[in-house]
Amino acid sequence: MDKKATLKLPDGGNIDFPVLSGSVGPDVVDIRALYGKTGVFTYDPGFLSTASCASTITYIDGDQGVLLYRGYPIEQLAVHCDFLEVCYLLLKGELPNQKQKDEFVSMVTNHTMVHDQINRFFTGFRRDAHPMAVLVGVVGALSAFYHDSLDISDQRHREVAAFRLIAKLPTLVAMAYKYNMGQPFVYPRNELSYTANFMRMMFAVPAEDYRTNEVLVRALDRIFILHADHEQNASTSTVRLSGSSGANPFACIAAGIACLWGPAHGGANEAALQMLDHIGDVSKIGEFIKQVKDKNSGVKLMGFGHRVYKNYDPRAKLMRETCYEVLEELGLNNDRLFKLAMALEKIALEDDYFVSRKLYPNVDFYSGIVQRALGIPVSMFTCIFALARTVGWIAQWNEMIVDPDQKIGRPRQLYKGATRRDVLPIDKR
Ligand code: SDX
Repeated sequence: MDKKATLKLPDGGNIDFPVLSGSVGPDVVDIRALYGKTGVFTYDPGFLSTASCASTITYIDGDQGVLLYRGYPIEQLAVHCDFLEVCYLLLKGELPNQKQKDEFVSMVTNHTMVHDQINRFFTGFRRDAHPMAVLVGVVGALSAFYHDSLDISDQRHREVAAFRLIAKLPTLVAMAYKYNMGQPFVYPRNELSYTANFMRMMFAVPAEDYRTNEVLVRALDRIFILHADHEQNASTSTVRLSGSSGANPFACIAAGIACLWGPAHGGANEAALQMLDHIGDVSKIGEFIKQVKDKNSGVKLMGFGHRVYKNYDPRAKLMRETCYEVLEELGLNNDRLFKLAMALEKIALEDDYFVSRKLYPNVDFYSGIVQRALGIPVSMFTCIFALARTVGWIAQWNEMIVDPDQKIGRPRQLYKGATRRDVLPIDKR
């Protein structure tokens, strides 16, 4: 028997709505007919209780600290797969066999170069421009170069755009870093793996040969896996909303990058490291925690808390392990910030302010420490996040395009402004 929910209206009438069930997770009340039948809207700023779409890509159980990509636990994917296998999974719904993987890797590898005129975009920026400002601009401009993959109704166009974006983001992120450093751009090398290629484009200099460290490459590849998708977060919702108007894929991904930049979202890893630098020493943790608890201070424990996870973010656990491995490999296991972060985490998780609000470390708490140890500067952290999240944005964008239920996103409002009034001549105002 179909489930339903009954709404009791202010005028005493009742109205039923269908209740829909997914394969797992909360049911939803289908209220699409609400305004047409009752003349009232729902009110849900920040979408705390709103499902914006149906999706088959990523599932999060915030209470249990569960994260599944196409049904596979993130803990297993992070250990048994590499990032391009996870890209294939997110885009196509299944893990690739060896032949499928080889073909996919070859397609990505052969799209890693960017049009050489894109180099000129960088010279228009100040050297000290924030790399995210550069990335938003350059990714948005890609639609000016690739006219043969802009027809979003054409699956082949969508597929080519997906390969281009996944393949070129590492090249563009590395270019943003090199430009900021005043060093020459490093072209991709097709004999290298995706992540080894990125590290070489970031850190190689013409003055000497660059040797990849496979432990560090594996660590960064895992960081990409952990950041690849996360259901309907703010930047993914931005990409879906942009795509619902028919905007081209490059413009949609640029919109996602812009949204990710915020410190409450993808900018939190940069903010978390700056927070640790600010605290400076374990002896200062108590004073800082006191500030966080003081609502008037506006100070938050960056890298803590999450809209969905009300338990430990499974990505944070994996990130902490990766952090330990990298610091061990680099002989930095006495790293001051790592020890400070672990002490801060321990104190916070024993403090009722955080426990009562179910505030746990999220993916951003340790990622900054790992990236800093890998030689990636703080200002580049959110670019790394954007690089990894591009595949998730594309997978969600693709799903939205082919969803028969999808329409242009156009929320309504609770209007609390002035009611109708007449304009007076300026000498009467
Ligand atoms: C990401 O959505 C995603 O999936 C995002 C992401 C992804 O992969 O796409 O997971 C990536 O964005 C991770 C989150 C990174 N952001 C941060 O680490 C910034 C610090 N965190 C907070 O800004 C906050 O926790 C949010 C924004 C992440 C979530 O905010 P919510 O869900 O709106 O929760 P809230 O602000 O209503 O907080 C509930 C309570 C409040 O206190 P009370 O009003 O009940 O007294 O908890 C407090 C908040 O003040 N609180 C914090 C806190 N986070 C929430 N207090 C101190 N430090 C914090 N970090």
